[in-house]
Amino acid sequence: MNTTDIKCVACVGGGVIGSSWAIQFAMRGLDVVLYDINDEQLAKSEAQMHKSLDALEQFKAITADRRKEIVSAIRLTTSMAEAVGRAQFIQESGPERLEIKQSILAQVEEYADAGAIYASSTSGLLISDITAKAAHPERCVGAHPYNPPHLIPLVELTSGDKTDSDLLQLAYDFYQSIGKEAVLLRKECPGFIANRLQLALYREVQDLVMRGVCSVEDVDKALVYGPGLRWAIFGHNMIMQLGNPGGLTGMVQMLGNSGDRWLEDMASWTHQPDNWSEVAQPGVDQEMANFPDYVGHTNAECAAYRDQMLIELLKLHRKL
Ligand SMILES: NC(=O)c1ccc[n+]([C@@H]2O[C@H](COP(=O)([O-])OP(=O)(O)OC[C@H]3O[C@@H](n4cnc5c(N)ncnc54)[C@H](O)[C@@H]3O)[C@@H](O)[C@H]2O)c1
Repeated sequence: MNTTDIKCVACVGGGVIGSSWAIQFAMRGLDVVLYDINDEQLAKSEAQMHKSLDALEQFKAITADRRKEIVSAIRLTTSMAEAVGRAQFIQESGPERLEIKQSILAQVEEYADAGAIYASSTSGLLISDITAKAAHPERCVGAHPYNPPHLIPLVELTSGDKTDSDLLQLAYDFYQSIGKEAVLLRKECPGFIANRLQLALYREVQDLVMRGVCSVEDVDKALVYGPGLRWAIFGHNMIMQLGNPGGLTGMVQMLGNSGDRWLEDMASWTHQPDNWSEVAQPGVDQEMANFPDYVGHTNAECAAYRDQMLIELLKLHRKL
């Protein structure tokens, strides 16, 4: 099989992640069948998809006609046989519990073609554990998206101890072919790559505030209007490369001793401060109150602003 043989994708589990995956696949011209356990859950999936499509249409990432095509490419079902029977690629996004993931895989294997690729959206479970009782563990990979998958291109690929390396490559090529940016973990690693980077930075965010160096609002502002703008374009190694006439090597030399002194002073604790929420919540409430009106002052308003900015940024990245 190669990537062009993949015409039909089954999304198993249609919650926050599964319903967003369905849009991603349908936007790229694939037939999608979305499975969930009952009609009530499917109704929620449908509502969630329409909300995402509303934002895409409102911010002109898709036209009304394109929206209709996307909607008509997605079929909803409570029948596992119907969901996976014709699929060449199966994206599982069920609850993050090992026994449920194993039971979903067992059901899928009953009805799916033995050649189909099975990709789990798991955030933290090991593929080797999910596939421990599988008939075809060699067909299974971990494919961790960033929420929401139809907007954020990143997908982190992991393999289990029995995953076929050619199949992993095929999964990689497939995601790339539908506009995702796949990264490959060469070793199992809790939190994968992106969430670890995020948490490492968040430890320093918390520490700066807890030590009284700056407010919650100012640490956010320092990130958004400083490194965050550059990070939306290039990764940190590239930023280093462009930051000095001597490239990354020159930048490392320039940082030299002062970099080491900062590192010595930085947080290294392994348990988050117990009273962080008490400190951070009033700070973030104040931050929201201080935003200009065009950003918004409530969670809903700020989330809409975030989505609009994300869509505009993705257009600049030629991802939408
Ligand atoms: N939410 C995130 O930010 C995020 C990000 C990346 C990855 N993930 C991962 O994606 C997966 C799904 O997370 P979510 O946030 O969409 O959860 P969710 O609770 O929103 O959705 C889970 C869906 O699975 C369905 N489900 C329950 N039992 C099932 C079964 N036996 N078979 C099939 N479907 C079943 C539920 O009805 C629900 O619609 C998890 O593995 C999670 O770790 C989540």
